[in-house]
Amino acid sequence: MSRQFVPVARLTDIPVKSNKAFEVAGENILICHTEMGIFAVRNRCSHQASSLEGGIIKKCFLYCPEHAARFDLRDGSTKGKLTKEGIRTYEVRVVDGHIEVAVD
Ligand code: FES
Repeated sequence: MSRQFVPVARLTDIPVKSNKAFEVAGENILICHTEMGIFAVRNRCSHQASSLEGGIIKKCFLYCPEHAARFDLRDGSTKGKLTKEGIRTYEVRVVDGHIEVAVD
């Protein structure tokens, strides 16, 4: 199956330095609005599977609200003591003020 972009929210729905979770094609995806742009990741921490929604955003990093594991939103990688496993990232784009995420 090929990937296609699906509209999930308006850009104005998610202020800078905040995030919001959406169900998109059966996947729980967190849209993060950073000072460096929009990113989309799987909304499941690789430490203990907590939701990442509401986590603090600093530059291009997201901190899990549960135990503060830090994930790089550009590639989902992490470098902390809590987990070495990254989180999935999704392609994302903004078209006419709408955030679109690429899903399978
Ligand atoms: S569940 Fe995310 S850091 Fe522990």
